[in-house]
Amino acid sequence: MLAERATDVSRHGDRRGTRQSVSAAAATRRPRASWSPPPAFPRLADQDVHAWLAPLEGGPQRARGLAAALSEDERARANRFLTERDRRRFIVCRGVLRTILGWYLGVAPAAVEFRYGPHGKPAITGGPGRCALRFNVSHADGMALYAVTLGREVGVDLERVRSDVATEEIAERFFSAREAAVLRALDPASRVQAFFRIWTRKEAYLKATGRGLLSPLRELDVSFLPDEPAALLATPLGPREACRWRLEELFADARYVAAIAVEGHGWRLRRWKWPAHLGEAAYERGASSCR
Ligand SMILES: CC(C)(COP(=O)(O)OP(=O)(O)OC[C@H]1O[C@@H](n2cnc3c(N)ncnc32)[C@H](O)[C@@H]1OP(=O)(O)O)[C@@H](O)C(=O)NCCC(=O)NCCS
Repeated sequence: MLAERATDVSRHGDRRGTRQSVSAAAATRRPRASWSPPPAFPRLADQDVHAWLAPLEGGPQRARGLAAALSEDERARANRFLTERDRRRFIVCRGVLRTILGWYLGVAPAAVEFRYGPHGKPAITGGPGRCALRFNVSHADGMALYAVTLGREVGVDLERVRSDVATEEIAERFFSAREAAVLRALDPASRVQAFFRIWTRKEAYLKATGRGLLSPLRELDVSFLPDEPAALLATPLGPREACRWRLEELFADARYVAAIAVEGHGWRLRRWKWPAHLGEAAYERGASSCR
C-alpha cells in the first residue's frame, strides 16, 4: 500500500519545504525490545496483548502444509496472486494466523472462521458466549506481524524501511502540517526511519478502528521523534478519541518498523517470535486461553 502511494506521489507530487537542522540528540534511539520464544501454552489474560512476528518464507512444503487449513475463499484468493512467491506468502500468512488463533481458541486452524467488517477488517465469528478474541495482521516483504487481545480492538502495521520512498511528497499529502514540518527539519540520516514511524503509527491506529486508509490521514497527529514515546496526539474525532488508544512501537527488526494501537490503557505487551523451525504442526495442540 505504501509503495503504491509512494510511486503515485513521486509521479505527481511537488517538492516544497525548507530545511532546518535538528540536534543529534534527537536521533538517539531507545534500546530495541526483544522478541522471545513463546511459552509452550501462551495464555492471554484480560490485560495481555500478544504480538507475534513470523517469517513468511520457506519452501513449497511449508505452504502446502498450511494451505490445508485455509478456507475455499482463501485458497481462491491465493490462486489469484500473479507470482508463486506472493501466493506462498499469502498462504503462510493466513495459515500461521489460523494456527495462532486456533491455539488461543482451542480449535484446529481449519476450524477458525472469519467475518469481515465494512472496510474489510477480519474478525473471528462468534455467537453469544464465544471468546472475545480480537486480532490484526500486517505483512511486509516476507515478514508478518500479528497481534491478539481479549476484548480490545487492535491494529498493527509493519513496513520494510526503504530509502527510495518519496518521503517528502507523501508527508506533504498524508501527514499533518506539524508532522510534515518536524520531519522536514530532521537531518536526512534520521528522516527515513522517522517517516516510517509516522506511517506505521497512523496505519496501526486506522487499522484498529477498521476504517483503514480511507480515513483522512492528515487529520491524525502522532509522535515520532526517537526520544519520545509513541502516542496518538490528535484525531478528527477529538481529544477523547485520542485518549482512548495507546500506541507502541514494536521494533520488529533493523530492516522493519512496526507499530501497534490498542484500545484502552493498562495493557501489557508480550512479543513472541514464531519458531518456524519447529513446523506449524507443533502448534496445533489447541490449548485454549479463552473463557
Ligand atoms: C487495511 C489497509 C490499511 C491494509 O493496508 P496494507 O498496508 O496494504 O496491508 P497490511 O499488511 O498492513 O495489512 C493487511 C491485513 O490487514 C487486515 N485488514 C484488511 N482490511 C482491514 C481493515 N479495514 N482494517 C484493519 N485491518 C484490515 C487483513 O488481515 C490484511 O491481511 P490480508 O491482506 O492477508 O487479508 C488497507 O487495505 C485499507 O485501508 N483498507 C480499507 C479501505 C479500503 O481501501 N477498502 C478497499 C478494499 S474493500
